[in-house]
Amino acid sequence: MIVYSIFLVGNMRKINISGNWKLNKTASETKELLAELTAAVAGATKTEIVVCPTFVSLTTARDALQSSNVKLGAQNLFWEESGAFTGEISGTQLKNVGCEYVIIGHSERRQYFNETDATVNKRLKAALNAGLLPIVCVGETLEERESENTFTVIENQISGAFAGISAAAMAKITIAYEPVWAIGTGKTASPAQAEEVHAFIRNKIANLFNQQISENIIIQYGGSVKPSNAFELLSQPNIDGALVGGASLDAESFAGIVHAAEKIEG
Ligand code: PGA
Repeated sequence: MIVYSIFLVGNMRKINISGNWKLNKTASETKELLAELTAAVAGATKTEIVVCPTFVSLTTARDALQSSNVKLGAQNLFWEESGAFTGEISGTQLKNVGCEYVIIGHSERRQYFNETDATVNKRLKAALNAGLLPIVCVGETLEERESENTFTVIENQISGAFAGISAAAMAKITIAYEPVWAIGTGKTASPAQAEEVHAFIRNKIANLFNQQISENIIIQYGGSVKPSNAFELLSQPNIDGALVGGASLDAESFAGIVHAAEKIEG
């Protein structure tokens, strides 16, 4: 009986709600939004809260987040440390301006900027070397889902992204499952659809690494998450957070998602 009870004790995963601001907000708008947001989520104690503004607003954001419970992240990084790479930004530079997190391999980068599983892997290694906490995005397109290739696509993205990554490094990584057809479209994956893929990802991590890594890894869902659907999504056993686009641009909506997360028993 004792053994059984121990077995039933839930995992210790802390819900992570991250805002991906994409190409939105000037530095002054960043300051305004963060003043509202930090006030609105000040009482949240259980949830890891992250905002990822554009590169040029990171220092403004860092200052606005001082002595708040909201962490700072970036939306991308380059894999080289320094040198003749015009227009690029390194992990060390992000760390130096106060970033703790960095999003890698978002589907918009795959779609518009030729991101591949191989470049995701290079960026991931650079992020880890710089001491950043990576949020690695995976997800299938509508066509891939309709042709019943979801699991193959996810499996390939996962093994490509995490090639050569140690189990110790995996402990620092968050995965975001974002079905491309649900991003910015208002179409959310149903909690059951999302849960099915999250469970698959967790199982895949167990196979590639080990049971403990797989039980501890945070898997966020992303794609039209809003205050009205957050609680149900986050209530699924394998959904440990959200990567939020549109709804993160409004303090009340993003705080509403954080408040939903605070209500999850865990
Ligand atoms: P969305 O974007 O919440 O606007 O669908 C999510 C994302 O792309 O990370």
